[in-house]
Amino acid sequence: MTKIILDLDMGIDDALALAYALGSPELELIGITATYGNVLVQDGVRNDLALLELFGRPDIPVFVGESHALAKDGFEVLPISEFIHGSNGIGDVTVPDAAACCQKQSAVDFLIDSVAKYGDDLVIVPTGAMTNIATAMRRSPEFAERAHIVFMGGALAVPGNVNACVEANISQDPEAADIMVRHGKDVTMIGLDVTLQTLLTYEETRKWREYGTPAGQLLADATDYYIKAYETTAPELGGCGLHDPLAVGVAIDPTLVTLLPINLKVDLEGPTRGRTIGDENRMGESATTRVAVAVDAPRFLTEFMARVGKVAAGL
Ligand code: RIB
Ligand code: CA
Repeated sequence: MTKIILDLDMGIDDALALAYALGSPELELIGITATYGNVLVQDGVRNDLALLELFGRPDIPVFVGESHALAKDGFEVLPISEFIHGSNGIGDVTVPDAAACCQKQSAVDFLIDSVAKYGDDLVIVPTGAMTNIATAMRRSPEFAERAHIVFMGGALAVPGNVNACVEANISQDPEAADIMVRHGKDVTMIGLDVTLQTLLTYEETRKWREYGTPAGQLLADATDYYIKAYETTAPELGGCGLHDPLAVGVAIDPTLVTLLPINLKVDLEGPTRGRTIGDENRMGESATTRVAVAVDAPRFLTEFMARVGKVAAGL
């Protein structure tokens, strides 16, 4: 079993990524580190705890992460994030607060300690703003050297979803994403190049609802909210993008995607601020980052439904 830490900005596809991880026998989820993006970090923590309880795993610890971007003093949820994920991050579906509380240790310290403890047996999957990861790299060169990271974010050969060249998770904190891709030694990017090819429709969510469980109901209702938002923002797709779950899928099985080795950077200045692109200063060096450029979408969807289906059925 591979140990995994999910660094989530608990929105709807983050919830699907959590269910995917919990339903995967290859993974041992050792903790969730909360970040911001779809929600404020404190709302992410609340959702993490509530969903872990709903999914029958209240034993998994949740750690509070950084609350805003490296170059900013605060953070407010953007109206577009609220439109896509609902004002509570989970499609305005009501889930009771969990009995469990978050941990006293910070997300950054937990990340650093876990990499020191587990090394190659651990993979970290960030699916929101990359501030926790960059802060860990700044504090600990050992973390940057040894962490295995598969992140959801960026767009290499396709347009962004914030503007023509910028993806949402990178746009939350471009400086943090740049630190992660330039200082990490094993970083895999699962961006819009592939995640917009992995789509879910009402046909699949109906199956979760039919289990008649609270977990199945939540997954179906929240995802229907997300699909409905996509009908407005990207009607040409015919479904919602399984962004964050694909990163978990690749953490388990990299053969789901085709990986292009390329040293990345994030543009920090001018109109392309937030763009993920090849680093012209490291073209000759061996690549520390890989970008997914193609995906076996049918195989991923089969894996996704089998694993999330277990959680929807009540584990
Ligand atoms: O661009 C898609 C990403 O932005 C996903 O991680 C989604 O949850 C939002 O954070
Ligand atoms: Ca996310």
